[in-house]
Amino acid sequence: MTSISYTLFIIFNTLTLTLILFSIPITSSNEDNFSENLLETIISTRLMEKTTNLHFYFQDIVSGKNPTSVQIIGQGLGFGATFMIDNALTEKPARDSRILGRAQGMYSSAAQRDTALLMVVVFEFTQGKYNGSTISMLGRNHVFDDVREMPIVGGSGLFRFGRGYALAHTVWFDPKTGDASVEYNVSIKHF
Ligand SMILES: *[C@@H]1O[C@H](CO)[C@@H](O)[C@H](O)[C@H]1NC(C)=O
Ligand SMILES: *[C@@H]1O[C@H](CO)[C@@H](O)[C@H](O)[C@H]1NC(C)=O
Repeated sequence: MTSISYTLFIIFNTLTLTLILFSIPITSSNEDNFSENLLETIISTRLMEKTTNLHFYFQDIVSGKNPTSVQIIGQGLGFGATFMIDNALTEKPARDSRILGRAQGMYSSAAQRDTALLMVVVFEFTQGKYNGSTISMLGRNHVFDDVREMPIVGGSGLFRFGRGYALAHTVWFDPKTGDASVEYNVSIKHF
């Protein structure tokens, strides 16, 4: 959006909000609960929405004695191949850096003529104020692109009503073992 159309957008929104505020009579009678609720909804939507940016590394470990990414369907990366994951989310690219949470879910090879994964993943956070909160990601991961964008379709706890997007970039990949470390930047709007 250009800055002019952005300014017009803000003005338009402010005008709309003002018109709505003045057109709704505020009384304390029960009959007006609906109007009050509508007013609350509008105000909370406009003013209380927050944006949180998260940064972490997704450790996809397929090899060794304790893999956290296990193939449950198919062979190799052929169409339909599916992995169930309980991958660590770490603060730094190194696998043994501080754990911030886990990525639980699955990914499948979903393209017949390409290398693209269907990602169905819940990120569960276990540190600080985010402890116990989750965000749900559902998207297409064209793995050999430098940066892939995937939608955040929901959240729980601190991220209730969450929506946003994730940007993923593979930091390292070992073609021999299939292990990878992927950087994620997540931007999420929530209340
Ligand atoms: C996160 O929450 C769980 C369950 O309430 C608790 O057992 C755990 O100690 C908490 N972890 C941190 C790092 O606060
Ligand atoms: C994530 O954000 C950091 C800091 O802005 C940036 O250096 C990095 O390139 C970003 N990575 C992705 C995958 O967007």
